[in-house]
Amino acid sequence: MSNRIVVHADWTLGTINKNIYGHFAEHLGRCIYEGLWVGEDSPIPNTKGIRNDVLEALKNLSIPVLRWPGGCFADEYHWMDGIGPRENRKRMINTHWGGVVENNHFGTHEFFQLCELIGSEPYICGNVGSGSVQEMSEWVEYMTFDGESPMANLRQKNGREKPWKLTYFGVGNENWGCGGNMTAEYYADQYRRYQTYARNYGDNKLYKIAGGANSDDYHWTDVLMKQAHHMMDGLSLHYYTIPGDWSNKGSATDFDKNDWFVTLKKALHMDELLTRHSTVMDRYDPEKRVAIVVDEWGTWYDVEPGTNPGFLYQQNTMRDAVVAALHLHVFQKHCDRVQMANLAQMVNVLQAVVLTEGDKLLLTPTYHVLEMFKVHQDAEALAFHGTFGEYASESGEKLPQVSVSASKKDGKVHVSLANLSPDESAELELELRGAEGAHSCAGVILAGDAIDARNTFEQPSRVAPAAFDGAQVSGNKLKVTLPAASVVLLTLQA
Ligand code: AHR
Repeated sequence: MSNRIVVHADWTLGTINKNIYGHFAEHLGRCIYEGLWVGEDSPIPNTKGIRNDVLEALKNLSIPVLRWPGGCFADEYHWMDGIGPRENRKRMINTHWGGVVENNHFGTHEFFQLCELIGSEPYICGNVGSGSVQEMSEWVEYMTFDGESPMANLRQKNGREKPWKLTYFGVGNENWGCGGNMTAEYYADQYRRYQTYARNYGDNKLYKIAGGANSDDYHWTDVLMKQAHHMMDGLSLHYYTIPGDWSNKGSATDFDKNDWFVTLKKALHMDELLTRHSTVMDRYDPEKRVAIVVDEWGTWYDVEPGTNPGFLYQQNTMRDAVVAALHLHVFQKHCDRVQMANLAQMVNVLQAVVLTEGDKLLLTPTYHVLEMFKVHQDAEALAFHGTFGEYASESGEKLPQVSVSASKKDGKVHVSLANLSPDESAELELELRGAEGAHSCAGVILAGDAIDARNTFEQPSRVAPAAFDGAQVSGNKLKVTLPAASVVLLTLQA
């Protein structure tokens, strides 16, 4: 049966903050070391120590913001270990992630360098769990103070004359867990205290993000908002899509149609989380001044067989591509409250966009979705309504078959679509209302030859975007056939 979807080009829901297309890079496994940083003396071609092939791939994604250094690592990170001549930097144990030696060769200066090279805004996460108020305060002074001060002088001694521009600053990470195992009440007080000394120097104004809830912990959100909403700009939320449970998460590549269904259902749970957290926040902030910052999201599977369990290295298939599309659609739907989201993680960890092996690189299906969808960044989200079909699991549970999001920018309307069904195509009649004249349509599709289709170092282009010929335009109407398990982006020119 054909579904009918009407997109209202003259009815906008708000602006899609480009920062929902943000990323996250932690000192974890092979994300920073090997994935991004190879060092200036590496045979792998690099720019100031950062590998060129990865830089090129990331630049192409227009990544608006990058969160660093963690994650759990952030609450054990002492920033002074990562400045000054590299050969003198402290070697420490990365206790959270594999117990490996962290040589601190990638620190504050290298992070800002990376951000400059890929055109992203930095988002620094400070240490509340094991760091002091003074340490956090001095880090902000080191990065942003322009003038004569102990930390500004130290920065200059380390080769950086002018301060950097730093807007996004997180006050701790997962403080209910790896960031100190605190109660919401205790952390709310700590947040108030730590953030007091994270100063705005000169015209550098920090956008302060409080450590938020673990998935459906609405009590955490309630306490943080009640006690500290007037002292924050954003409150974070972490939610991972895990097909199984924490002790047996499921394989990234070896899955059946039931696992596919469960994974997509769990990905869509993000919609309920955002609705309910936002409703709690409305009690204290009905104007929605305080943003939800989903600074960790994505799939989390069992690690690839034979790899270090502490490195969280996983493959990425068409299932991840659909999960990414569903999340971005949900974030766009909640554009009134969600002002940033950071995919976990950038390279070689969890739902990565890039995987590397030695000097080789591949782009994952998730990468291609982010590349296709980047046209939504800073566009006006459009209202739509219609029927979206039904996709039933073997046990009769149902999800909508088609997921949609639409936006308008620079005279163009972009409609992104995902077909959740692993084996049935979807027919759509799409009508664009509120825009005059005839519409031309161009499309691009990401689809695999199987639901577990993926790119490997031997076959790096098995899953790649292609021109989409499944849409016929007639006036302001389109007939679209979406192949099973696919993601499509349509560009309509009024
Ligand atoms: O992204 C991996 C880990 O997941 C992060 O370090 C932590 O914040 C979360 O539990």
